[in-house]
Amino acid sequence: MSAARIVVVGTGYVGLTTGACLASLGHRVTCADVDESKVARLAAGRVDIMEPGLAELVARGLTSGNLSFVVGAREAVRDADGVFLCVPTPMGAGGAADLRAVEQVVAEIADVLPSGCALITKSTVPVGTARRIQELTGRPDLPVVSNPEFLREGTAVSDFLGPDRIVVGSDTPGAADWVANLYADLGAPAVVTDAASAELVKYAANCFLAMKLSYVNAIAELCERLGADIEPVTLGMGYDRRIGRSFLRPGPGWGGSCLPKDTSALLRIAESVRFDFELLDAAVEENIAQRDRVIAKIAGAVGGRLAGARIGLLGLAFKAGTNDLRDSPALSIASVLCAHGAEVTAYDPAVQGELPGMLVVDNAYQVAKGADVVVVLTEWSDFTRLDWAYMAELMHGDAVVDTRNLLEPRVVLDAGLSWQGIGRPRAGARVTSVS
Ligand code: UDX
Repeated sequence: MSAARIVVVGTGYVGLTTGACLASLGHRVTCADVDESKVARLAAGRVDIMEPGLAELVARGLTSGNLSFVVGAREAVRDADGVFLCVPTPMGAGGAADLRAVEQVVAEIADVLPSGCALITKSTVPVGTARRIQELTGRPDLPVVSNPEFLREGTAVSDFLGPDRIVVGSDTPGAADWVANLYADLGAPAVVTDAASAELVKYAANCFLAMKLSYVNAIAELCERLGADIEPVTLGMGYDRRIGRSFLRPGPGWGGSCLPKDTSALLRIAESVRFDFELLDAAVEENIAQRDRVIAKIAGAVGGRLAGARIGLLGLAFKAGTNDLRDSPALSIASVLCAHGAEVTAYDPAVQGELPGMLVVDNAYQVAKGADVVVVLTEWSDFTRLDWAYMAELMHGDAVVDTRNLLEPRVVLDAGLSWQGIGRPRAGARVTSVS
């Protein structure tokens, strides 16, 4: 399609990725944000978010002139063909999505939008939001389109430019097709539908992923109780194309900026139509149970007494490849350990600065110093390259709890340490000499 004039409101992960990627597809994009200093930094090509390829795309967009940044959306939207709403929709009271930021932006720009300009929601919003926005604008000449994103932190740019699918929905004829066309060059299949269905796709997909992970974590627990190993079990499951290989790694529980928020929001949505979504509820409960099992494992490794135990944590971010701490299982586990009186030291290659209750240090060996137990909480590959013999020398105790099954157990055992993963009861067993 020919280049469209696009305004993206909100320059967080989703907004900035959307703006920079649409500019790289040849559209003329203006990104608006209320944060003046952030806009100034972005206009100078400085990207604070840790996202591979994003800074380069922003720089390229600025140089080509296809991408610009402004403070406030009102002026920018006056000649737009489409406006993407990428403002935060945090979890509000009671778990439902808080839509105030979306409503504020709509109120700010509704009267100056040119007739026919599409208002596009990218943030995850409750089913029915498109209709609500339409009412808020009071302008039937402005089509509202839902176009959910499926970006993962750490791979947001490649997810955007190489999507599995594009989903667009609108109740205004032709509007969804127009938005789908913005992505035409990507050659991805497009699901073009009504607004409510498009809005539901996002929740249905993310909550399915959360359920898949809770299921895998539960199977890992069964492995421990039955003496089976989760690695071959998930390998055997993953070859089944109906199941697929991804999202089958057990861990300390799922977290991040989307899955916890979206599961909770879909439960509230179901409740609002008097549907008891027990299956999803159980997945959320299972995630809490997983965290508690990890804490019990750590407690077990220090003889059952967390008070006064010296615990070294490797990893704080909710997953590798990001510095995002939002709803990180690592932080939640750390705070429980601290609350029980443990002395917690932590290192994460992407996280600096102070965190409540614990000492954040700047290398992994400092974490090991004097530790009774070292716990891997984020799957940074850097941790596989540590000198575990040296780690053992520095530690006071000998226990390693690897909640990501990241390390090669043999390497840790050969260093004279014990190793416990998730769902791998035999991989960590001490092997007494075989002659
Ligand atoms: C997720 C969705 O994948 C994405 O489509 C959506 O747009 C936003 O939410 P993200 O939050 O960036 O993306 O993280 P993701 O890679 O999906 O991981 C979510 C959580 O699951 C993390 O806590 C991660 O550690 C955990 N996880 C993921 C596992 O424990 N095991 C796995 O096999 C995969």
